[in-house]
Amino acid sequence: MTLEAVLLVGGQGTRLRPLTIATPKPMLAVAGVPLLTHQLARLAAAGVTHAVLGTSYQAHVFADHFGDGSALGLELEYVTEADPLGTGGGIRNVADRLRAGPDDPVLVLNGDVLSGHSLRTQLAEHRRVGATVTLHLVEVTDARAFGCVPLDADGRVTAFLEKMDAPVTNLINAGCYVFTRRLIDDIPCGRPVSVERETFPALVAAGARVQGYVESAYWLDLGTPAAFVTGSADLVTGKVPSPALPGPAGDYLVLPGAAVAADSALTGGSSVGRGCRVEEGAWIDRSVLLDGAAIGGGSLVRSSIVGRRSTVGDGCVLTDAVLGDDVIVGAGNELLAGIRLFPGAVLDEGAVRFSSDLA
Ligand code: GDD
Ligand code: MG
Repeated sequence: MTLEAVLLVGGQGTRLRPLTIATPKPMLAVAGVPLLTHQLARLAAAGVTHAVLGTSYQAHVFADHFGDGSALGLELEYVTEADPLGTGGGIRNVADRLRAGPDDPVLVLNGDVLSGHSLRTQLAEHRRVGATVTLHLVEVTDARAFGCVPLDADGRVTAFLEKMDAPVTNLINAGCYVFTRRLIDDIPCGRPVSVERETFPALVAAGARVQGYVESAYWLDLGTPAAFVTGSADLVTGKVPSPALPGPAGDYLVLPGAAVAADSALTGGSSVGRGCRVEEGAWIDRSVLLDGAAIGGGSLVRSSIVGRRSTVGDGCVLTDAVLGDDVIVGAGNELLAGIRLFPGAVLDEGAVRFSSDLA
């Protein structure tokens, strides 16, 4: 039997701006390849042969990169929403591309999650209980930013509470579902639908078998800069294994065509993209340098993301910084505490400093 997957990749990625101005979130490079490549490689390894991408924002970027999917051993199709239809609407919108029979399982995944859980075990649990839909759940310390999902003793979902201030449990929706095909066809067509706010609560209310599959493997939603940096570092170091990692796991990853000075330091799972330059005495710690970025001599870049073709001059300090594409940072700047620079921004030498040596 062919196993199919739907990937929801139509979101705007607003929390990751300015990186997502030119690139949709699932296409941002994480440990050297687009986040979506890691997901697609995992799906292929789990036996998926046909995947449909539900796109909207920056839709062309996906097809331009992946084409027919053959490089990943998958048959890929793309369906674009002219106006975003939400998560449920996006799933419904690809229904006519699916080949699964009404009772067959179809995997559905949020396109911004890194997960080490077993897709095969989740599928087996779905079949074992004869569920309508089976949700992968993980435990987090703060459930407020997620879908909160209480269960009964048999693992049945008793409520689906999207983003609430006072979560009733720390079990959350991990954004990977097994849908029975029939349910996809039952989602209303041609209007926005949220599976989290509409479909799942309605199924629970109607007494359908909505099953929770709890597996606390590695899991991270890469939707914020801090999580993005963490996810990339965890892939580079091998904390979360990926069949798509373009090199051996270790302290750092350097892609072909990058020039790294011998006395610079790359630590903490940093990744250095194609055509990057890292000059003498620079220290790149737990950071992501996207393709073509350049870091000047003696600069420290920590827990930061440097956009494509952006240049950072000598003697700079970047901590928790996010630089969009084509930014120019002059020498001697200190960019700390979550600062974000938009594409094309130019900072003069020493324009931003916090040190006591400020004359
Ligand atoms: N096709 C399409 N159309 N995709 C969309 C749309 C849309 O209108 N809106 C969002 N998406 C995609 C995004 O690209 C992303 O991959 C996925 O759906 C989830 O959207 P996010 O914006 O990342 O949602 P979230 O992180 O706030 O919450 C979701 O994920 C959490 C786990 O990471 C929810 O599913 C939560 O319940 C869940 O806990
Ligand atoms: Mg998300």
